[in-house]
Amino acid sequence: MTELPLIVSAAAPLTQEDLTTVTMAYRFFETKKHASLYQKYTIREPEEVLSLTLSYLEKKKGKPFELALDVGCGTGQNTRLLAPHFQQVVGIDISEAQIQEAKNVGVLPNVSYIVAPAEKIPYEDGSVDLITASVATH
Ligand SMILES: C[S@@+](CC[C@H](N)C(=O)[O-])C[C@H]1O[C@@H](n2cnc3c(N)ncnc32)[C@H](O)[C@@H]1O
Repeated sequence: MTELPLIVSAAAPLTQEDLTTVTMAYRFFETKKHASLYQKYTIREPEEVLSLTLSYLEKKKGKPFELALDVGCGTGQNTRLLAPHFQQVVGIDISEAQIQEAKNVGVLPNVSYIVAPAEKIPYEDGSVDLITASVATH
């Protein structure tokens, strides 16, 4: 793995988990600590993004909107935004810690979560109405 420059500004001394996080820069999102901080502090995209997406889907496919997959769902922030518009929404993430944090926030009746890599989504081609990947291109 390529060594990345280490630029850290910490208010408190770094723990072993912090150091591991920095060293494993490509997969730091897998720690429980990161998942919890992510859920607390991330800023959401504007509502227009969802609104434009749904308008496009309505023109292309029409209603009802049955199944949406949110790949790289993290703690489920985008997943939950989709819930009012689809019969079923499934959040998928490679990180168990992120999925656990998503479940801790509270699972809506039509929302479920799966731990899986984006490279192996457990659904047949053409079987879903929408796949989103919000802030999840790494
Ligand atoms: C920056 S977070 C975005 C989370 C969420 N989509 C949001 O909008 O807040 C990126 C997420 O992508 C996930 N991820 C990274 N590589 C992945 C992969 N190959 N398959 C599935 N999820 C992946 C990470 O675990 C992390 O939760």
